[in-house]
Amino acid sequence: MAYWRWESSYSVGIAVIDNQHKRIIEYINELNNALAFKTEDKVHDIILQLVEYTVSHFSFEERLMQEAGYPMLQPHKDVHNAFIERINFFKERFENGEDITKQLMLDLQMWLINHIQHDDTDYKEIVQNMLKKREIAPNEGSIKNKWLKNLVNKFFK
Ligand SMILES: [Fe+2]
Repeated sequence: MAYWRWESSYSVGIAVIDNQHKRIIEYINELNNALAFKTEDKVHDIILQLVEYTVSHFSFEERLMQEAGYPMLQPHKDVHNAFIERINFFKERFENGEDITKQLMLDLQMWLINHIQHDDTDYKEIVQNMLKKREIAPNEGSIKNKWLKNLVNKFFK
């Protein structure tokens, strides 16, 4: 059973972003499973993937905000960078043999809910408008637009 489920209240009204947030939640669930079965290599593996994915997601989000001319881009970037430092510190502690996984999961969960519902919601309208100008429906599940497709491919390898 999933430890944590995505809820509609987490939606920022932009499907491509919601899907990335859902993927982060999935990583946290995978981490929870690996932890339950005490497979340390797997835990390490997922932590590395989670960090990498989160960094890509932040860069992607920043690129959309930049494209939209979001005035609070720099403060939002600062929040992302501070969080990257924080999860990298967790990663280091794990690699030094500290048992931080549970703490990392709780921290990520709390941070994400708060960040999604406040900071991310703040760029919703301006990014939605930018997408609409490019003839992209913000709630479009599969990405058909070439520009957006390229952008996703650029940040997620
Ligand atoms: Fe964000």
